[in-house]
Amino acid sequence: MTHAHLTSLVLSLLLLIFIVIRQKQGKTIKVWHMVLRSSYLLIIATGFMLFMSAYSIPMSYYLKAIMGIVMIGLFEMVIVRKQKGKATDVLWITFSIVLVILLAMGFTLPQGIDLLK
Ligand code: HEM
Repeated sequence: MTHAHLTSLVLSLLLLIFIVIRQKQGKTIKVWHMVLRSSYLLIIATGFMLFMSAYSIPMSYYLKAIMGIVMIGLFEMVIVRKQKGKATDVLWITFSIVLVILLAMGFTLPQGIDLLK
């Protein structure tokens, strides 16, 4: 399941990069934005399954899930703000920080790839 979770988040990140490039080129993003939104469902579904597969759910899992949802919110915010022509610099910094925290948490928590092993 960790592989499915990783695959869906890599897919979302690639779609985000693609969408941001299209926005910079002034092209329409409507369909790709919808595809990206469906990929969030995959992240949430696989994340939820990982969450439920823990024998007893540790506090770190709740934090991981909350940060995961915040991350998805940030995906949306950077796209929508850019679409409105507003500044996204601070958002991108927040985006990067939350992403690094999530990757660090994901790869040090017990399931899947564990960098602490
Ligand atoms: C874009 C948002 C997200 C990112 C970037 C992310 C990132 C990651 C990464 C890198 C892993 C480690 C996978 C592995 O070890 O192979 C992971 C595991 C996990 N994620 Fe996420 N995730 C996100 C969203 C979510 C959400 C929304 C939830 C909950 C609903 C969630 C719950 C979990 C759980 C429970 C694990 C297993 C932790 C463990 O290794 O023991 N994630 N995530």
